[in-house]
Amino acid sequence: MNQFIEEPENVSEPSEVSFILMSIFAYFRLIEFYFSLEGRVCMAYLTTTASGQPVLVLKEGTSRNRGKDAQRNNIMAAKVIGEVLKSTLGPRGMDKMLVDSLGDITITNDGAAILNEIEVEHPAAKMMVEIAKTQDDMVGDGTTTVVVLAGELLKKAEELLDQNIHPTIIVSGYHKAALKTVETINKVAIQVEIDDRATLKNVAITSMASKGVGAARDHLADMAIDAVRQIVEQRGDKNIADIDNIQVIKKTGKSLIESQLVKGLVIDKEAVHPGMPKTVEKAKIALLDTALEIKKTEISAEIRIKDPSQMKAFLDQENNMLQDMVGKIKASGANVVFCQKGIDDMAQHFLAKEGILAARRVKQSDMEKLAKATGGRIITNLSDLKALDLGLAGHVEERKLGEDKMIFVEKCKDPRSVAIIIRAGLERMVDEAERAMTDALSVVSDVIENNKIVAGGGAVEIEMAKELRKYATSVGGREQLAIENFASAIEVIPKTLAENAGLEAIDVLVELRSAHEKPEGMYKGINVFNGKVENMRDKGVVEPLVVKEQAVKSATESAAMILRIDDVIASTKPKEGPGAGKPPGGGMPESED
Ligand SMILES: Nc1ncnc2c1ncn2[C@@H]1O[C@H](COP(=O)(O)OP(=O)(O)OP(=O)(O)O)[C@@H](O)[C@H]1O
Ligand SMILES: [Mg+2]
Repeated sequence: MNQFIEEPENVSEPSEVSFILMSIFAYFRLIEFYFSLEGRVCMAYLTTTASGQPVLVLKEGTSRNRGKDAQRNNIMAAKVIGEVLKSTLGPRGMDKMLVDSLGDITITNDGAAILNEIEVEHPAAKMMVEIAKTQDDMVGDGTTTVVVLAGELLKKAEELLDQNIHPTIIVSGYHKAALKTVETINKVAIQVEIDDRATLKNVAITSMASKGVGAARDHLADMAIDAVRQIVEQRGDKNIADIDNIQVIKKTGKSLIESQLVKGLVIDKEAVHPGMPKTVEKAKIALLDTALEIKKTEISAEIRIKDPSQMKAFLDQENNMLQDMVGKIKASGANVVFCQKGIDDMAQHFLAKEGILAARRVKQSDMEKLAKATGGRIITNLSDLKALDLGLAGHVEERKLGEDKMIFVEKCKDPRSVAIIIRAGLERMVDEAERAMTDALSVVSDVIENNKIVAGGGAVEIEMAKELRKYATSVGGREQLAIENFASAIEVIPKTLAENAGLEAIDVLVELRSAHEKPEGMYKGINVFNGKVENMRDKGVVEPLVVKEQAVKSATESAAMILRIDDVIASTKPKEGPGAGKPPGGGMPESED
């Protein structure tokens, strides 16, 4: 080109032949551009046989994106998700307000909750949503961390792709780096005793630091520890704390500080009859999966009555049947009934007369919890009800909570049943407090099960990056570059924590790196509240080891998976509306499975 500009005299008039050639060339460029732009298959999927016969390989309408384009698009989509969550990381992170299609509003800082609410379309972005979900299911916290980290790993990989380093080399470098990182986390981890309440509380408070629960943090952390300790069980030499056994109930009203722990279960139902006792001591509980009603016949029948006495006899018969049902319950010795189905008005009256406290239409999940907690058996046929089937609880009481009445089942046969009632003035606050409580319960159970913690505030990340850089030189070759970039990617956590706190991220990073050069600097992280580099272990900013370990593993896996993709073939859904979905040229629209 320059040659043309510098030496215009050398440019001869294009001959007719070269003009035709240029036109053909331009035409092909135009076609190529059209396909790369549209990404549509149509002709791109028409291959030709040796005899020039066109063969349709994929369904019409399928879009295809391959090579570098596919790679860059995927990286871009995943990076965007990381960027979205970045501003929410850490105690100084901001919240997001999400409005769904029905107009319901959620205000949250929780990574998994945010990604759950936003409707992501791009397949690579969907993978990021999935890793947040996995992190939430596996360890319950660190969902923002995992997504931000995965986004940064891809960003750093892009730099290497620009230097013509093959994706498989980057992927293998990243895998080596992840292994080394997991080794480092375990090396720097701090052992915790299960009865070290102060440390467990620090872990719970750190997990709630970013969740707008303010002054109630202390109270919620105590409740979380008590609840998890209540449900922990010993299996072999392992402690198992399945937080699914903890019932978390939300009730708007009062304030967070009035949230309470109940050693037992809380059933969100009230006694069916005002004449029933409000409190039952030494409760014997019948759990029924059958209605205390007269069954309607499946065939429509007609009863002909000749005189009023027959009518009375008919109604009496119904009452007798209901009384008989209540009699069976009474005979079993039960003084409390939880019924999954309905209870007839008359049956309610008989139950109240017998001094039995009863609730109807109890959720199946609550029935199962009741069975577990009280040791009772759910009965489907009243005639089968025996004293042995009854569940036991020391105290059952109907109490008013806000506007509603609930039944508290306390001092259960199985002492490992526990419920937490979250109170707050605003509904959205109750929701966010519930998420904070779930995070706190998860991290406490993580530490009880795994008994190892690491220093937060970016301390462990700086330590990982330091060890990785040392390790990279021992690996050498192009993989070394990938490992070094992995190290830089990990530093996104302290960097973002600092950025979100309004600090100079680069200065903080440099200070942290130099602090970690000294052996006593191992736990130094950024205190986002005063902007100083401090010992996070001493400050009580600690997190479960498993949260960091899982975050590194999942982020690496997803980044590697996205990097290895060089072809995206997607079938497009037929558009809705008249005429949509019809193949060009007419014909029947294809059915959608
Ligand atoms: N007082 C503190 N000072 C500095 N950093 C802190 C402090 N408390 C928590 N952190 C850091 O904040 C980060 C956690 O932030 P956050 O809870 O917002 O995200 P997450 O745990 O990754 O995701 P999520 O809680 O949404 O599932 C951790 O790196 C933790 O070390
Ligand atoms: Mg968290």
